[in-house]
Amino acid sequence: MPEPLLQVENLLVRFADPHRPGGELRAVDGVSLTVQPGEILGLVGESGSGKTTLGKTVLRLHEPAGGRILLRGLDLTHLSEAALRPHRRAMQMVFQDPLSSFNPRQTIGTAVATPLKLHRLCTRAELPERVAQILDEVGLPAAFAERYPHQMSGGQLQRAAIGRALALKPELIVADEAVSKLDVSVRAQILNLLRAVQARSNLAMIFITHDLHVARFLCHRIGVMHFGKLLEIGPTEQVFEAPQHDYTRALLGTVHGSVARDVRIPA
Ligand SMILES: Nc1ncnc2c1ncn2[C@@H]1O[C@H](COP(=O)(O)OP(=O)(O)O)[C@@H](O)[C@H]1O
Ligand SMILES: [Mg+2]
Repeated sequence: MPEPLLQVENLLVRFADPHRPGGELRAVDGVSLTVQPGEILGLVGESGSGKTTLGKTVLRLHEPAGGRILLRGLDLTHLSEAALRPHRRAMQMVFQDPLSSFNPRQTIGTAVATPLKLHRLCTRAELPERVAQILDEVGLPAAFAERYPHQMSGGQLQRAAIGRALALKPELIVADEAVSKLDVSVRAQILNLLRAVQARSNLAMIFITHDLHVARFLCHRIGVMHFGKLLEIGPTEQVFEAPQHDYTRALLGTVHGSVARDVRIPA
């Protein structure tokens, strides 16, 4: 086994419980997992099971109440914001709703160029060419650099969001329900894009989805979340064919039993 890219050890994240004044809920409750370089780990589970909180805490967007987060063996858990900054570039997030992750008054070109400038990844003179290259990598024409977010479809915007994240050459992307709002045909295109990108750049991904079909298509391993706990984790086919836990069986049962859902995804 190579050294894991990411190690999460006994992670605990607490929030105030809105239903019990003074009470707290454990959104993430003692989760341990690893992600290898170039691996896509799926996190599945019902709404409220703690998937998003886990993903965000890995990126230190929430403060954990306990446990550790290690990137390439380096403990990020208690690094100050300043000490964390050089490592932020290595971990990027792609969200469900691409429209809300772009500034409506900024062109797509500016949105993609801004992080490149901030992290000094290319010179001012190289920027237009680099932006065009990034758009091309995610299947968008260079002319789209001039467009504003409202002039693009959901699928095109999600491509741009993926491009913006890739521009920083991250080692890990946390994609949170990144295809959930897209039409079925567009969803398949974006999934294929993610798979191609991951294979091309040996990128690792935590792919959060409530959609088990999508997880099965894309992910090497799958972790099942339930009430903040990681119930089981294993190679995708093993989780689907020989689930270890009653809850996982129930979750899969709702999928096998679901009717008239178009789940065909072209290879
Ligand atoms: N910022 C927050 N403040 C308070 N409670 C939160 C916050 N984010 C999530 N929660 C709670 O934590 C639990 C897990 O939520 P979440 O991580 O969003 O689950 P999922 O992504 O699996 O739907 C839920 O009970 C949710 O209400
Ligand atoms: Mg979520």
